[in-house]
This record gives sequence, structure tokens and C-alpha cells, in this order.
Amino acid sequence: MLVAKQHKTYLCSECGASFARWSGRCPNCDQWDTLEEVIPEPGGARDRLGTTAEGHAVKLDEIQMEHHGRISSGIAELDRVLGGGILPGSTVLLGGDPGIGKSTIMLQALGQITGDDVRCLYVTCEESLSQIKIRAARLALSGSPVLVASETSLDAICGLLVTREPQVAVVDSVQMVHTDQLDSPMGSLSQLKACAAELIQLAKQLGCALFLIGHVTKQGAIAGPKALEHMVDTVLYFESEGFQSMRILRAAKNRFGSVNEIGVFEMTEDGLRDVQNPSALFLAERDAGESGSVVTATIEGNRALMVEIQALVAPSAYGTPERKASGIDYRRFSMLLCVLERRAGLNVAACDAFVNVAGGVRVLEPAADLPVALAIASSSRDVAFPADAVAIGEVGLAGEVRAVGHIDKRLKEAQKLGFKRAFIPTGNASAASHVSISAQPVRHLRDAIKLFQQR
Ligand code: TYD
Ligand code: MG
Repeated sequence: MLVAKQHKTYLCSECGASFARWSGRCPNCDQWDTLEEVIPEPGGARDRLGTTAEGHAVKLDEIQMEHHGRISSGIAELDRVLGGGILPGSTVLLGGDPGIGKSTIMLQALGQITGDDVRCLYVTCEESLSQIKIRAARLALSGSPVLVASETSLDAICGLLVTREPQVAVVDSVQMVHTDQLDSPMGSLSQLKACAAELIQLAKQLGCALFLIGHVTKQGAIAGPKALEHMVDTVLYFESEGFQSMRILRAAKNRFGSVNEIGVFEMTEDGLRDVQNPSALFLAERDAGESGSVVTATIEGNRALMVEIQALVAPSAYGTPERKASGIDYRRFSMLLCVLERRAGLNVAACDAFVNVAGGVRVLEPAADLPVALAIASSSRDVAFPADAVAIGEVGLAGEVRAVGHIDKRLKEAQKLGFKRAFIPTGNASAASHVSISAQPVRHLRDAIKLFQQR
């Protein structure tokens, strides 16, 4: 007789990948000591064949739509990233490094949502009630009727959700919630998954929008929020690069909105503030007369953002040139160096080359090729790119400049910020005719380099 063998499964607490065998290093994300054994769920397909249990299915056209209006968080940039506000009954995972402002943004949002018709609950698992009060005072919310609880037990938090019936609830952080029903310690992957699953299920049943806050940890001492990504509707990451006070909120997954939207905030003395005109902020510290700096208009979600691309090229002191790209794709950067060398006659093969997108923005679309290439050319020749011009365009392997999407949106944003000229692909020239900015169509990278050097 065949006896079903119990297979062990090991899950990585950082990336959530599963393996049949334990190893010291996760083969998927290369983190050390992150694989943990999880107890397999009982049963298997074999036991199911003779089942008498019945599931329930309906025809698609018979499903009644539940009309839920979205709840505005009162923070325009947060609403934008969520896809137009908080959807009742949805679950959101908010991840980020410690100290980035996760607790601040959620307390601020709840403080603004709470009113006569919306009940909100903020559960803190790490701080005391008086610490929350101190933060609330900083945010000018100490008179707010937001319900606050300091609990770490899953039972207690579920109890609060059921008895207080909040429409929006925050659990800060989900990694500190634990249940007695599991032997594994608080912060372990099994605890994290079990507690999150129960909270999510309960919130769905109650129609409560649930925000789970998760710390991103490099050391893996506590299981990372990545392991929860598949369980929730929306995954947001709060990041800060470049500027000290600037924060960028990104959606890594969104069942009810676009994942391309970003929210830009500034951390001030009294809380996070929406940045209404991020383009101006990204360009604020620009030194327009320097070589190696080119401004471009990139599309993030529904809006155009002006960003400065900086390059620094210098003859290499060692045999192997050093290359580094931050904010753009490294392979794209290598490809552009090669195209510049072979198709535009620039001698960069033996040079150290660095490219950076100022302000910590990531520009991953091909429309950034032309500005990146021009920034490299500008630095290599030590000729400044015109201060009143922007460059937009994809560059092909032959050095040809290819058309990109949303050209009018990009040019309008450039015009708004006072730019007078734009180097754009010839293929986009007709679409650019109804913008007052002067468009300079370019067919080849070589022509673009020549053009800006003549000025
Ligand atoms: P916090 O929301 O506690 O971060 P997280 O929950 O992601 O760990 O924010 C902590 C930092 O933000 C801390 O360094 C203090 C700073 N801060 C301000 O600068 N202004 C403020 O109004 C508040 C509340 C915090
Ligand atoms: Mg916090």
C-alpha cells in the first residue's frame, strides 16, 4: 500500500520562495539564513477524488456588484497611489525601512478620515499609547477621535475589529502580532503568515479596509513583509533615497489601481506633507551651467515628472574602468556607452562613467536613453547642455532616436517649469506641434550631440 509521504517545505522569509530542501542561503534572493520550515497543509489531491463536499459557484452575470465608494485618506498623494482612495474591505501592506515614516503617514491619514461617519482604529504593537499621543501632538491630531490600542495578541486585535467595527484599521506592525496557537516565536515566518492571514480574512468579512505595516529588514532577524505580498490586495513601499526629507510612496502591486503611480512627500517637523509640484523639487538643487547634467520628462503613472540626469565621465586610473548607475537600469547604461562609442564617435571605453538620477527617482523607461546619452556626452566633452532645454527619446543600437509615448504630456510639464526647448525624436515631431515649447527633432544620437554643442 502506498503511504503518503509528508514532504517538508522551506520558505524564505525575505522573498517568500519555497524549496523542498533547506540551505543556508536562499537560492532565489541570495539572503543568508532566511529559510524556515513550514508545516505542510494536510491532505492531497489523492484524498480529494471521492469528495462529497460541495463548493458554490455562480455565473459571472449573476454576481451582484457591491458598490463601495472609496474613502479619501485626506492625503492626496496616498489616495493617488492607492488608485483613488481607500477601498472598503481592501487590504494593504505598507512596507519600508524603520524610521521612514510608516507610522506617521498612517496616523495622519486616520486622523483626517475619522469623523462622524467613519470609524478608524490604530493598533500599535511596538509603541505605548503615550508615545502615540506624542506623535499625534506633533501632527496636531491630539484632539482627534481615532481609536488607538496598544496590543500584540492576535486574539485581542481580532476582538477589537469585531467589537469596534472600524471601517479603516491599521496594524503597526504586523511582524509584532503573535498567536499562542503556534509554538514558533514572535517575528518568525509562521507567526507572521498565520496572523496576517487571519487578520486579512476577518477584515474582508467585516468589510474593513486593513493596513498592515511591515518593516523591511536587511538582516532577516524578523520575517520580511515580502512573504505577505501575495495575501493582500495592494502592496505599497515607502522609500527615501537622495534627499533626506523626501519620501516616495510606490505601489508594487495594486488589484484596484495602477502600479505606476508614485506619491511624493516631504517629512517636516509636523508630519508628512504632500509635494504638489515634485518636478520643481527634483530640479531644485540643479546647477544648470555644469556639464553632464540633462533634464528630462519621465512618465510615472498618470503624470509627467521632470528629473535631472547627471553623468560624470573621466579617464580611468586603473585598467578596468569603473561604471555605476543609480536610478537607471545598469544594462541600459552599458548599452548606451557602447552606442556612444561606436555610433557617435565618443571615446568612453577607457573611461570611468557614473550616472545618477538626482532626487532618488528611478527612471526605467526607454525615453530616458537620449538624456542619459547626452549627459554622458556632455560630461565627456565638458560642454554644458543648454540650461533651458530638455531631452526625451529612446536610443536604438544603431544610434537612431526612436519615438516615445505621451510626448505632449512631457512637453507640457517641461513648459510649465519654464523650459524653452526640447530635443525630441523625429517620430514625435508632429505630435509636439501643439505645444508652445520649441521642439528640436533629432533622428540620430550623433545629430543630437552635434546640435547641443553648437547651441
Ligand atoms: P515613523 O513614522 O515613526 O517611522 P516608521 O514607522 O516608518 O518607523 O517616523 C519616524 C521618523 O520621522 C523619525 O525620525 C522622526 C521623524 N518625524 C518627523 O520628522 N516629523 C514628524 O512630524 C514625525 C511624526 C516624525
Ligand atoms: Mg513605526
